[in-house]
Amino acid sequence: MEQRRFGSSQREVAVIGQGTWYIENAKPASAIAALRRGLDLGMAHIDTAELYGSGVAEELVAEAIAGRRDEVFLVSKVLPQNASRKGTVLACERSLARLKTNRLDCYLLHWRGRHPIEDTFAAFEQLQREGKILSWGVSNFDVSDLEEACRIAGEGRIACNQVLYHLQERAIEHAVIPWCEKHGVALVGYSPFGHGSFPGPRTAGGRVLQEIADAHDATARQVALRFLVRRASLFTIPKASNPKHAEENAGAGDLRLTNTEIARIDAAFPLGGRRSLPVL
Ligand SMILES: NC(=O)c1ccc[n+]([C@@H]2O[C@H](COP(=O)([O-])OP(=O)(O)OC[C@H]3O[C@@H](n4cnc5c(N)ncnc54)[C@H](OP(=O)(O)O)[C@@H]3O)[C@@H](O)[C@H]2O)c1
Repeated sequence: MEQRRFGSSQREVAVIGQGTWYIENAKPASAIAALRRGLDLGMAHIDTAELYGSGVAEELVAEAIAGRRDEVFLVSKVLPQNASRKGTVLACERSLARLKTNRLDCYLLHWRGRHPIEDTFAAFEQLQREGKILSWGVSNFDVSDLEEACRIAGEGRIACNQVLYHLQERAIEHAVIPWCEKHGVALVGYSPFGHGSFPGPRTAGGRVLQEIADAHDATARQVALRFLVRRASLFTIPKASNPKHAEENAGAGDLRLTNTEIARIDAAFPLGGRRSLPVL
């Protein structure tokens, strides 16, 4: 599994990680087996949130990583309504308890809400001083939010921005990716399979993916994941609650696409015009 520097965190992190939104809807044994299989194959970046299943996803992650905490780059998120100075600290402590760990590798503001980000960031800094989080970042931040965040926090403080990014939703390429690359902020693309709407094999785009996949003895989803991490700033976190799916996704970690193949995918899934940041 290829690893790369995760923004300002100074950590090397797997380019393909694992999401956990709705894993509580699968049979627990299957969700846990999928996360463990993913870990076996190097998908060590596990993304969760207090939102997911109202904490149940974090509890399932705790079971999956039991005895393997040091292998994992563990990320969770505070909900905007909890993101006051004090509320952020308390939310983090609840997440740590559910995750049965003493630290998060990265802690994110899930999206901007009514609490001033100054307060959230002050709480993040406190949590980091206390060793409860090793780095922090944001999610669903557009360029104007990032500018403001950087003015408040200072350069080099924000480890990542987690945003919607898949073949049919490439809006971040216009301005968010360039901004993050300029400021050393890792970009974690969420919903890489469109949250369950991956282009089918009979669509024009799906055929392009399959032809490229065939040339590499790979699958269309592996080709898509690889396209989504084609720049050094990019990471992706597909969610799988089926161990076979986790295996397939991990297979993208060492796939390499040629410039010609990247250009074909680029043409098959056009970027579209500049627009404000989409969220799921
Ligand atoms: N920050 C945010 O606001 C935000 C928003 C959305 C998502 N996220 C994060 O990003 C993660 C990923 O996004 P997502 O969950 O929305 O959707 P996704 O990863 O785009 O798609 C998940 C769906 O794809 C299926 N799948 C995964 N691998 C597969 C494979 N190899 N073959 C066939 N099907 C496969 C899964 O099925 P099975 O479960 O049956 O394996 C599930 O139905 C989330 O879980 C969450 O951690 C963050």
